[in-house]
Amino acid sequence: MKVDWLIENVTLATLEENANQPYGRVKDGLLAVHQGRIAWVGRRAKAPDFGQAYVRDGERGWLTPGLVDCHTHLVYGGHRAEEFEWRLKGQSYEQIARQGGGIHSTVAATRAATVESLLQSAARRLGRLLKEGVTTVEIKSGYGLDLDTELRMLEVAGMLANRFAVNISSTFLGAHALPPEYQNRADDYIDFICKHVLPEVAARNLADAVDVFCEGIGFSVAHARKIFATAKELGLPVKGHVEQLSYLGGARLVAEFEGLSADHLEYLPSDDVSYLRKQGTVAVLLPAAFYYLHESQQPPISAMREAGLPMAVATDLNPGSAPMASVLVAMNQACVLFGLTPEEALAGVTRYGAQALGLGHCKGQLKTGWDADLVLWEIDHPAELSYGINLYTPKRIWVGGQDV
Ligand code: NIG
Ligand code: FE
Repeated sequence: MKVDWLIENVTLATLEENANQPYGRVKDGLLAVHQGRIAWVGRRAKAPDFGQAYVRDGERGWLTPGLVDCHTHLVYGGHRAEEFEWRLKGQSYEQIARQGGGIHSTVAATRAATVESLLQSAARRLGRLLKEGVTTVEIKSGYGLDLDTELRMLEVAGMLANRFAVNISSTFLGAHALPPEYQNRADDYIDFICKHVLPEVAARNLADAVDVFCEGIGFSVAHARKIFATAKELGLPVKGHVEQLSYLGGARLVAEFEGLSADHLEYLPSDDVSYLRKQGTVAVLLPAAFYYLHESQQPPISAMREAGLPMAVATDLNPGSAPMASVLVAMNQACVLFGLTPEEALAGVTRYGAQALGLGHCKGQLKTGWDADLVLWEIDHPAELSYGINLYTPKRIWVGGQDV
């Protein structure tokens, strides 16, 4: 069998569905790469002859799929550290938003920022994620809320994809907040998005999906429905920030549109889990926002687990509710705050993170034919990745079979 290179002397965590070992563990494993894809994976003792292929020594480490951060807002101007001080003095995230702070303050800073400065600050944040073994990142717009700035944010996401060895998935989040020029005119703003912005985003091929912030301080289910219907007409899959601070029924709407993912979900009633499950919509858990906002209502994890609902975990990296550039810390938070097992947390940032981006057929598992996005860790057990904070960094990372 002809391959470009192979790695042996490793334990594999394949994260394959229906694996009969935890984490899809394969002791004394071997993985071979050809033309950017996984050409063979399994026990070394069963491997075919790979001829003259270049052999790497895994030095008895663990090899996992590259990590997937399936929900970030990492392109933005400014920061909101002063709001952190206000919140610590007792003001709530919602109060600050209603007074024109919160997302609005980032919108002002993002509108004022040049492409170059947006690119530089986003590159710094992205770099932090990549150092941890992230090989696929989703990036949302949503701090422009006007045609030019929304397009600019998505263009910056595209520039990052050219500049870094990482797969980037872009999401249009024009319905993130009501911009000041549309105050008290939410219907008009949604019309503007559907008639002028979304078609332009689609025509320029700038987004892989469309998101909505469905919330009291965001948009109603009726507004989200309009956005989703337009997205569908344009051939774009949908997802939603839903049931984060209250229950509006947004997750059911996302499921109705066969959405890729429903994200946050703290206020999702157990009864609504089945809607997501039926439509193949992934639940994306964002424990950093829960942590920073000091929330107490947890997403219905047991009901999700019992229903077999795929649960992804992501950072939500943003300047307001989750100024945190660490997928490993998100895994830790998912375990400590939401009660996920370390195995669920790792599946959440690999197999299910990929599924939440519509990439479940090529990323997030060590499987023949899947992309060779790989991370080699110097650990004894994969639960260490969820357990430690700032204790582990990857030994090697490959994106599409290339060393990075
Ligand atoms: O996912 N919930 C809405 N959007 C972001 C927060 C954005 C912000 O505060 O800037 C979130 O938590
Ligand atoms: Fe978010």
